Amino acid sequence: MARFDPEQTAERFRKTRHRPQGRRSVRELRLEDALPDGPRFDDPSLQSLHEQGHFDELLWQLKSGKEATVYVVDGPKGLLAAKIYSDMAVRSFKNDAAYRDGRFIGDARIEKAIEQRSRTGVNAQQALWIEEEYRQLCALHAAGVAVPRPVAREGRVILMEFIGDEDGPAPRLSDVRLSREEAESALEQATEAMAAMLRVGRVHGDYSTFNLLWQRGRVVVIDFPQVVEVEVNRQAAEILARDARSLAHSFGRFGLRVDPERLLRDVRRRARNA
Ligand SMILES: Nc1ncnc2c1ncn2[C@@H]1O[C@H](COP(=O)(O)OP(=O)(O)OP(=O)(O)O)[C@@H](O)[C@H]1O
Ligand SMILES: [Mg+2]
Repeated sequence: MARFDPEQTAERFRKTRHRPQGRRSVRELRLEDALPDGPRFDDPSLQSLHEQGHFDELLWQLKSGKEATVYVVDGPKGLLAAKIYSDMAVRSFKNDAAYRDGRFIGDARIEKAIEQRSRTGVNAQQALWIEEEYRQLCALHAAGVAVPRPVAREGRVILMEFIGDEDGPAPRLSDVRLSREEAESALEQATEAMAAMLRVGRVHGDYSTFNLLWQRGRVVVIDFPQVVEVEVNRQAAEILARDARSLAHSFGRFGLRVDPERLLRDVRRRARNA
């Protein structure tokens, strides 16, 4: 991928709908620019990833959410996306017990702390969610599902392939206008990706056009902290059905009428016939 010129790109971003917001916060994360041994980052996880040689510069803030902010960083291997979770103590992950089912078994102390919702428990749980998101991203990528390539994880930061190009990030399917033909192709790819996940025993858990990027005709699935595994989660079937409903519903914006029941059967059938 071509290294992009930040100033030129800034100009292009200003003109497009995918303009990154809040460049100010990028600066806030950087302590010093002009040190002899390069920049220093406020956040120890970022600093560590920088020292490991993954990136030198934080370029853009793509998206700031309640729980995580996604930045574009630049380094020796080109652009990457850095998903940085906000301060452990103030975040509230999907605490839905359905997602937790069968996940953190084995560590009685953590289980107890989570149940009691103690500070330690909440921190432990949040660290586990981030670790789990990265683990799922790795597993799905290894299984050939269309997801960003994982690069590294450190503390509250996940580094992965940047889906986009020098013109900016790939938009979400929830933000683009597509022709009928493109919308049908996107639906086909989204269905196939859902089946590919199920084939390796996984259900996304938050599957809709909001977590599907559209990269020049290619669908890429993102956002994995709530992925559940069929083998351990007793509610996986319900979560799968809910994903089918929200995918079907979210494709309504393209004028496609998708029957969620049929979509679900299709996904199950595809998953069986690898
Ligand atoms: N690898 C990536 N390449 C390009 N853009 C990305 C990448 N990962 C995330 N994004 C952008 O950042 C946004 C937020 O990422 P993600 O969905 O993983 O986090 P989130 O915490 O669920 O945020 P939200 O609640 O807004 O969905 C995405 O909607 C997408 O626009
Ligand atoms: Mg998301």
